[in-house]
Amino acid sequence: MSNKLLKGKKGIIFGALDEKSIAWKTAERIHEEGAEMVLTNAPVSIRMGQIENLALKTNSLLVPADATSLNDLDNLIEKSVSHFGSKIDFVLHSIGMSINLRKGRSYTDLNHEWMKKGWDVSAVSFHKLIQSLYKKDAMNSWGSIVALTYIASQRTFPNYNDMADNKAYLESVARSFGYFMGKEKNVRVNTISQSPTLTTAGMGVKGINGFFKYAEKTSPLGNATAEECADYTIMMFSDYTRKVTMQNLFHDGGFSSVGVTQEIIDAIE
Ligand code: NAI
Repeated sequence: MSNKLLKGKKGIIFGALDEKSIAWKTAERIHEEGAEMVLTNAPVSIRMGQIENLALKTNSLLVPADATSLNDLDNLIEKSVSHFGSKIDFVLHSIGMSINLRKGRSYTDLNHEWMKKGWDVSAVSFHKLIQSLYKKDAMNSWGSIVALTYIASQRTFPNYNDMADNKAYLESVARSFGYFMGKEKNVRVNTISQSPTLTTAGMGVKGINGFFKYAEKTSPLGNATAEECADYTIMMFSDYTRKVTMQNLFHDGGFSSVGVTQEIIDAIE
């Protein structure tokens, strides 16, 4: 499926680690839809992952950047603008990391230094990124910025741990900075709240397999896949969504609106 919806547009994609990554699928779709990209990831993830293959496949420039470093972000944006010879039309923030989750520390026994690190990587990095784009006036008018989030920001999912708080902060940044980016730059800022997805980050959540199945059964349309998330993001980068901003957009097969399903009641009775 390609409609060249993004023909002539230029953007930056964060977070493609390997073929399972949502950002990987999104970069492939962006390429099909006719846009040019700069791909970026943390230097350690570039060494461990396969992003160089993606850069070759999509004919993209690869610029390493730790999303917590303002210097790295400034450098990435400067290099991107000079590579494109123009300002930027779209940016995807597809970054998440919790050391507490990774090391199996429960929410009632958090290591707060790890918590701060995870907050910086997963949430503050979004503010740093937009601030750098804002100060450099690097976005084209009617550009679009998207970050990926999860419904544990708004409802309780015990195993999601401190990432739930990070996602709540991330969604708030989209609203707060979305105001200034809209008023002063004509740029929209949104978060997409995606179904559980079996990626490297997703599989780091304790009990993900059971939970994945629960969400699949609860969602009237079933879980949204990484490929479907890529399609939704393409739409958010296209000119068809120019007045959608400061929203948290659920892309979850209807999960977020379901109270209970008949199957669950039948199983309990
Ligand atoms: P992934 O593991 O493929 O992607 C996470 C990315 O974050 C990796 O590429 C990693 O290198 C990058 N990253 C970590 N620290 C970084 C740093 N300091 N600087 C720059 N990049 C850094 O997993 P996935 O699932 O594709 O995650 C993408 C986004 O989607 C994340 O925000 C995640 O929270 C979100 N999401 C994932 C869901 C899932 O079930 N997999 C559900 C809803 C949202």
